[in-house]
Amino acid sequence: MSQSVLLLPGDGIGPEIVAEAERVLHRVNEKFDLDLHFDSADVGGAAIDATGVPLPDSTLEKAQKSDAILLGAVGGPKWEGLEIAIRPEKGLLGLRSNLELFANLRPAILYPQLASASSLKPEVVSGLDILIVRELTGGIYFGQPRGVRELENGERQGYNTYVYSESEIRRIGRVAFEAAQQRGGKLCSVDKCNVLEVTELWREIMTDLARDYPDVELSHMYVDNAAMQLVRAPKQFDVIVTGNMFGDILSDEAAMLTGSIGMLPSASLNAEKQGMYEPCHGSAPDIAGQGIANPLATILSAAMMLRYSLGAEQAAQAIEAAVSAVLDKGLRTADIMSEDASRVSTREMGDAVLEAL
Ligand code: NAI
Ligand code: MG
Repeated sequence: MSQSVLLLPGDGIGPEIVAEAERVLHRVNEKFDLDLHFDSADVGGAAIDATGVPLPDSTLEKAQKSDAILLGAVGGPKWEGLEIAIRPEKGLLGLRSNLELFANLRPAILYPQLASASSLKPEVVSGLDILIVRELTGGIYFGQPRGVRELENGERQGYNTYVYSESEIRRIGRVAFEAAQQRGGKLCSVDKCNVLEVTELWREIMTDLARDYPDVELSHMYVDNAAMQLVRAPKQFDVIVTGNMFGDILSDEAAMLTGSIGMLPSASLNAEKQGMYEPCHGSAPDIAGQGIANPLATILSAAMMLRYSLGAEQAAQAIEAAVSAVLDKGLRTADIMSEDASRVSTREMGDAVLEAL
């Protein structure tokens, strides 16, 4: 069955790193006979320059029709003076909301070859491989009512509303349980149900869902403890599922355990498993156009795309193994450079992954 992939290179280093991921995708397409078809479009600053808006209708239409999207990054100093409504970031938010990408998957993997990049002791963090599943379209970031109001005594009061409906909890729960099934079979649901009624419901529904996934071991943890455990003993986790705000914080915390932003992929999925895949880092305007950016986060995002949206687990694993092989060889872009390693450019890193494949 033919499937379509939309490439959205975006801004800054985006085009450089997406070009390498594209070459890798073409290679696995042939090698594993995947019948993938590729198209590309503008988003972010590139789209503003071409059309005046960060998410042109033509880009959105292509995105809606595609099975998966691979995005580089958007934004940069050139567009910083624009009003918020037409800033590059709006392109991303527009894609997330239009495609209802409610499930954000962020792995934090520490490659043994890069152990020295972590701020944690090697014995605490070596071999780390966890996945945070964050609810992305609900919770306190979107709850109504919200705002700043004036009280009768003249004092101002800011307020937001933390809401989750049962169906929102169930659908993110299912994504997390399924991810746990494909990985180590352990799921930790993070909440604050000693204080917040919303998360009491969250815990109840996760517990209920667990009956459908007898092969997954479910545990629960309060968010403050989870924040501690992530730096104390992160390897106790396999998959973590949590709401939007807790997930925002914990996923950044977990990502930094690995110490290398150029290595971290992410996925945002909807109910149809259509997804947008992108590196966790931004457009890195400070190094754009120099051919030195690390393409591995984007290449690993392409692997996630094959796994979660395109049903090509074998190809995903082949890419991940190739990345690991390249690191074994001691090849490093500037951001992950260490003393005894060989420095390579963006293109050379792509070449090495292709060769390993
Ligand atoms: P950034 O992630 O772009 O850069 C932070 C630092 O990490 C820089 O020193 C950069 O050179 C380095 N870096 C990032 N990715 C790298 C890679 N692949 N290889 C080597 N080094 C890498 O974050 P920053 O500087 O806060 O934001 C720059 C622009 O990116 C801004 O316009 C921001 O709005 C945008 N941004 C976009 C995101 C997205 O498209 N999802 C996410 C975060 C920021
Ligand atoms: Mg964040």
